[in-house]
Amino acid sequence: MTDLHCKLISSAGVFPLRVITNRKYGPPEVLKLEEWEIPKPKEDQILIRIVNTSVNSADWRLRKPDPKIVRLFFGIFKPRSVVLGISFSGIVEAVGKKVTKFQVGDKILGSPGMKMGTYAEYICVSEKSTITKFTSGISFAEGATLSFGGLTAVDFLQKCNVHTKQTILIYGASSAVGTATIQIAKHFGAIVTTICSKENIPLVKSLGADESFDYDQFFSLPENNKYDIVFECVGKTTIDKNLKHLKEGGNLVLVGATFRQMWESFCLSVFKRKKIHFGPIKETLENLNFLVSLTNLGKYKTYIDRHYPLEEMVEAHHYVEAGHKKGNVVIDVTKG
Ligand SMILES: NC(=O)c1ccc[n+]([C@@H]2O[C@H](COP(=O)([O-])OP(=O)(O)OC[C@H]3O[C@@H](n4cnc5c(N)ncnc54)[C@H](OP(=O)(O)O)[C@@H]3O)[C@@H](O)[C@H]2O)c1
Repeated sequence: MTDLHCKLISSAGVFPLRVITNRKYGPPEVLKLEEWEIPKPKEDQILIRIVNTSVNSADWRLRKPDPKIVRLFFGIFKPRSVVLGISFSGIVEAVGKKVTKFQVGDKILGSPGMKMGTYAEYICVSEKSTITKFTSGISFAEGATLSFGGLTAVDFLQKCNVHTKQTILIYGASSAVGTATIQIAKHFGAIVTTICSKENIPLVKSLGADESFDYDQFFSLPENNKYDIVFECVGKTTIDKNLKHLKEGGNLVLVGATFRQMWESFCLSVFKRKKIHFGPIKETLENLNFLVSLTNLGKYKTYIDRHYPLEEMVEAHHYVEAGHKKGNVVIDVTKG
């Protein structure tokens, strides 16, 4: 049972909180709608009424689980965290005695990190979480989609020390991470080439891509097309193929690396001095605030593919797991 929510007490009948639970591993149908009591914030916590959350690739991977080794970290026999969800926007409804940064009525967005729990109408989070206030320049739906792809893109681009006039090749550019990476790389002055399906070329161009190839063109791309950064967003290519398009001394990012690719990358880094970045990102408040200010300046906009109501979470998971969402999928939880 997650510590973010009180126990199921639907019989109390007072202010029940609707929550989507994930009590066992399996297909989307394991997700169930339950009613719980609204939690009370501890001294350093705030109670948030969630307006929107989003369904990300991390969510279905944890639910399934995929890869199976996920069980080692998140519960061998059943998921340790009963409520999934790692990004949200909402409104502060109550604050603990020691909270200083937030007050009732503030609009908040961000991530509870791997504690998860945003597939619910209410959540209590520490004020020290990666959460921040936002104003009317950002919609609740945008707010709920800001942290997942955006924080991933910023973290990896920082590791590559991206700067003006560098060339970057983004593979899987229509994904949540890809659509964020295009815009943030452009903000830093990079020259962006994207790879995605033919259908998504207009989308990635509208987000700022300077040049776009579809998957087939990528596989026949001449080896002398080389880039300062190769940014693989979806884990669908080989390390070899990516290295062929990397300039000497350039940075390769493997956002969705498998364990095998991580091992291979580690060996290449140690023995061949290749700069390969992989593994979980560090979510920081500084980076979240950076994304909020870019959005307020009109330089960053999360791309939203679809909305589902909370009670259609099963359908949302089927859609996201199929692997063809464009950008982000939003869940409407309560009214903004
Ligand atoms: N390291 C970290 O901390 C971290 C953080 C976030 C995410 N991730 C990982 O990053 C990966 C991407 O996450 P995401 O949520 O951004 O993915 P996503 O949005 O679910 O990816 C869907 C997109 O991928 C594209 N795609 C599917 N097959 C493709 C292929 N063969 N070649 C190129 N594009 C293809 C689809 O385009 P089409 O429909 O046109 O094929 C679709 O637009 C996941 O593996 C996730 O686990 C890692």
